Amino acid sequence: MDQITALESLATELQEGLNQASSFDDLETLRIAYLGRKGRLAAIMLTLPSLSSEERPLVGQKANQVKERCNALFEKKREELVSLREQSALARFDASLPGRTPGLGSLHPDTLVIEEICAIFEKLGFSIAQGPEVEIDHYNFEALNIPPDHPARDMQDTLYIKDTILLRTHTSPVQVRTMERTKPPLAVVVPGKVYRRDSDITHTPMFHQIEGLMVGDGITMAHLRGILTAFVRGVFGAKTRVRFRQSFFPFTEPSAEVDISCFLCGGKGEVNGEPCRVCKSTGWVEILGCGMVDPAVFASVNYPDTVSGFAFGLGVERIAMLKYGIGDLRLFFENDVRFLGQF
Ligand code: DAH
Repeated sequence: MDQITALESLATELQEGLNQASSFDDLETLRIAYLGRKGRLAAIMLTLPSLSSEERPLVGQKANQVKERCNALFEKKREELVSLREQSALARFDASLPGRTPGLGSLHPDTLVIEEICAIFEKLGFSIAQGPEVEIDHYNFEALNIPPDHPARDMQDTLYIKDTILLRTHTSPVQVRTMERTKPPLAVVVPGKVYRRDSDITHTPMFHQIEGLMVGDGITMAHLRGILTAFVRGVFGAKTRVRFRQSFFPFTEPSAEVDISCFLCGGKGEVNGEPCRVCKSTGWVEILGCGMVDPAVFASVNYPDTVSGFAFGLGVERIAMLKYGIGDLRLFFENDVRFLGQF
């Protein structure tokens, strides 16, 4: 019977074809040619009706065996190709290539400066205190000896929520809140957000301050000078010179502003013969306000009049701009990663 011979050589020829095959495409081409609907096996099956009823089951049985055999050959070849593909992928993998570093975030310059300053004061024995950003008139003004007609209360500066509820304009109210819940002696620094109705190149409606307060028996201006000098040298370097200039704040008496020798020109007022742009040729840069706590503030928290203390307040962005040479305050709040990633 021709069909039996044809069927027997089918698997042998397929094996030869598969030996030549080198891709999944080759495999598919062979499958269509041998087992496809119009393939060689199908062609043989088409001749079945012409056979006698004795021959037909024999050929049918043979055809089934051959089909199974062919399927097994295809499966074996397919597995070979899969394993070859894996090996070549492994060969192409270079374990010595550097890995791809995922983009890491970085700390905001405000955060860095706040952490650095708080760490310096913690070493000097201060602890960290905090207070609310939504504040009442009493703490923001009244208890700090700022009377109702004081210019600092002007609607221009303060963002009011209701008559006597406002966004704190400075961190000083936390002085009062801390003293209300703590007996002297105490020493705290208070980092936090403050708000003012002000917006231009050098002012943003929200910025950060750090307040400081030290109260005890026999605290004097000398302690204030010593602590603030240590702080300034910690942030701007051991060679920094410090100058206390007389000033006025309602909640301190006497009051002073602290200037440091310009870290760019070293106090000379010029850099390579050019006027210094940081200190505007004065040799000094203002960095904070301070003073001895006014007795009126102690009275508002019912402290005995035997205590004394000093307080200070500084702008975090101002320190960060000086320290890192940042020229534009708005960069702090635009959240451009090209800026933020530099610190
Ligand atoms: N609260 C003041 C301001 O926002 C800064 C300040 C000055 C705070 C002197 C103080 C101080 O504690 O003693 O401008």
